[in-house]
Amino acid sequence: MALLRTKELTKRFDGLVANNAIDLEVPQGSLFAVIGPNGAGKTTFFSMVSGFLSSTSGSIEFDGRDITRVPQHEIAAMGLVRTFQLVQLFKGMSVAENVEVGCHLATKGGVAASLFRPAWFRKQELEVRERAHELLEFVGLSAHADLDAELLPYGQQRLLEVARAMAAKPKLLLLDEPAAGLNTQETEGLAHIIQKINAQGTTVLLIEHDVALVTRIAHRIAVLDFGRKIAEGTPEEIKAHPEVIAAYLGVEETSNA
Ligand SMILES: Nc1ncnc2c1ncn2[C@@H]1O[C@H](COP(=O)(O)OP(=O)(O)O)[C@@H](O)[C@H]1O
Ligand SMILES: [Mg+2]
Repeated sequence: MALLRTKELTKRFDGLVANNAIDLEVPQGSLFAVIGPNGAGKTTFFSMVSGFLSSTSGSIEFDGRDITRVPQHEIAAMGLVRTFQLVQLFKGMSVAENVEVGCHLATKGGVAASLFRPAWFRKQELEVRERAHELLEFVGLSAHADLDAELLPYGQQRLLEVARAMAAKPKLLLLDEPAAGLNTQETEGLAHIIQKINAQGTTVLLIEHDVALVTRIAHRIAVLDFGRKIAEGTPEEIKAHPEVIAAYLGVEETSNA
């Protein structure tokens, strides 16, 4: 069963067609990757799927429901959670607090509860703290729980973003170039974490620039080029695909922008 399905999803920015009739089906439980050169339209695709950008035409279905015109916060509440290409942590908060904020997406409450603090609310707060701690352990950051998130080295900030996204208990996790700016060792660690997340039952849709990483961990890969999907298949099929080699694998990459 497809957890996410886009049909002819299109985005125009004035004269530019950033996504041109993209058909994509992400099977439930899969680790799916979208690759393509800079400017191919990968982030635009994510932004439409997660409700941050409205589409020009086409449709998006998630978990059996048409979400094409559903607002971003409702899509997130349904279990579709994204990270951003550039690190976006909450400043002035500790590492643990950043994850706790993510947890609150998946809990009930509101102002009244936080003022009057009934027993169930205190129990929930405790659960949030425990869950945040487990997630920090999961990504290897529990030793830094009380540190100001901004003081973490860049590579660990990226891991914190993944932990925060997981705090919302997503059904579908969208990761936009999570390995950008990481060194080889950090990339290895991240790849392992993404695989663990997927093995524990979360469907993952990953945008990546690092083709070696993607062909190693993804079950299936779609390739975008100039806003079009030019190929889709298993990592083996993608590595052997002539158009992909011409459009992407053969091209020298110079930046991660
Ligand atoms: N908000 C925007 N307004 C105008 N053009 C945009 C906007 N966002 C992206 N684009 C353009 O759309 C194309 C695809 O961008 P993007 O989706 O960011 O590509 P990728 O993530 O694959 O590098 C690029 O040509 C980019 O300049
Ligand atoms: Mg991008």
